[in-house]
Amino acid sequence: MKSLAVLHASQLITLTGPGRPRLGPEMSKLGIIRDAGMLIREGKIELVGPSDEIEGQMTALSSQVSAGRYASEIVDAGGRVVMPGFVDAHTHLIFAGNRLDDFERRARGESYEQIAKAGGGIWSTVEKTRGASEVDLLAQAKKHANWCLRCGTTTAEAKSGYGLTLESELKLLRVLRQINVPPRTGDAIRDSRTARSPAVEGGGAGSETPLQIVPTFLGAHAVPPEFSPDEYVDVVINEMLPRVASQRLAEFCDVFCERGYFDVDQSRKIFCAAKRLGLNLRGHVDQLTNSGGARLMAELGATTADHLEQTDQPGIAALKKANVQPVLLPGSVYALGARRYPAAREMIDAGLAVVIATDFNPGSSPTPSMPMILSLACTQMKMSPAEAITASTINAAYSLNRGDRIGSLEPGKLANFAIFDCEDYRELAYWFGIPRTHSVYVKGECVSRSGGV
Ligand code: NIG
Ligand code: FE
Repeated sequence: MKSLAVLHASQLITLTGPGRPRLGPEMSKLGIIRDAGMLIREGKIELVGPSDEIEGQMTALSSQVSAGRYASEIVDAGGRVVMPGFVDAHTHLIFAGNRLDDFERRARGESYEQIAKAGGGIWSTVEKTRGASEVDLLAQAKKHANWCLRCGTTTAEAKSGYGLTLESELKLLRVLRQINVPPRTGDAIRDSRTARSPAVEGGGAGSETPLQIVPTFLGAHAVPPEFSPDEYVDVVINEMLPRVASQRLAEFCDVFCERGYFDVDQSRKIFCAAKRLGLNLRGHVDQLTNSGGARLMAELGATTADHLEQTDQPGIAALKKANVQPVLLPGSVYALGARRYPAAREMIDAGLAVVIATDFNPGSSPTPSMPMILSLACTQMKMSPAEAITASTINAAYSLNRGDRIGSLEPGKLANFAIFDCEDYRELAYWFGIPRTHSVYVKGECVSRSGGV
């Protein structure tokens, strides 16, 4: 029986809470225990408390077990911050290549929309991704997953969306499943018959990546040139969604609801079809223009509405009424060189359970770093460091329907945590551009160790 004791965290950020997402002022409550630790057994947290209590409990338990010491491994956090691993609730983890040309054109002053019209943008990544083999995509996805782990993220939502044909969208989702589920004898990368529920807890030892991945189908990311918009909506609804659902390749369905991509009516059609097939909904809405996307997600009873840079007061009120969680993505505003960040303060003050995420993707947000997002949340969206921590852990976990398993350090939850090389949690948002991750654990196993700086 594998057991582990963590001792001497300067601050153990437990986020012990009400058993639901934290709303409004609750987002400031982190449940910090000083000079604290945890007892972990078989990948789950058994006990959380001050270090002397943990040590006392270890001694008591050791006298009961024949093998001697209760904890087979002791991790001395050495006066550093220990907190739940980040839960990154919005990423485009799997793609081929990069968008360096777009980046340079933006630096010269062209906009995201102009670059897309001129042949860059999402479509250029689609071309590269369609051309990549599953083996190459697997290697890319593992590389990106490793970047996330190194930043302290232990769970990431990951979208398809750079295939835009039935086969290539299925290919992306299959690779996401393949890297996340511990292999069974006989499984191979090309074997699409290994249909296991993605709700199975992935990640940890034995998987291709220890990062836990939550898959989302984003077939409606852009309209490929071989179709008219309405024709492609039909393909998504009649060909893609039924296969994605029957093979249980995704838990969520997403749509890029935006001028030039999918309008509100087309988005509604896709989301309704996804809902009928049992998928939950998250949507890219109100990113570049206010198209009423937030209201649409409210009307549909979506789990999340993501981006929301242009959302107005009625949109915020609609999200609140329908209990939809906003997922704010300041990395994309920053990297696009835009000015308008989402109205995080108004959302928190309206009592919404705000989430922040990286939007990691090659075009609008090439960062896997949640600490960078914390910095932007505090400096650009005027969230407090405590609110940013809540938004990137427990609230994010609820937005992925995993609030009962991850996102806080409480007995019974998975031992997914990160040790950061700082004494005070506020340092995570304060220092920027310098990695502070000391080590990262998934299900009680050390999966990344950089030792801090
Ligand atoms: O969330 N807005 C749509 N999708 C991504 C960008 C994808 C890309 O540019 O490749 C986003 O910003
Ligand atoms: Fe996105």
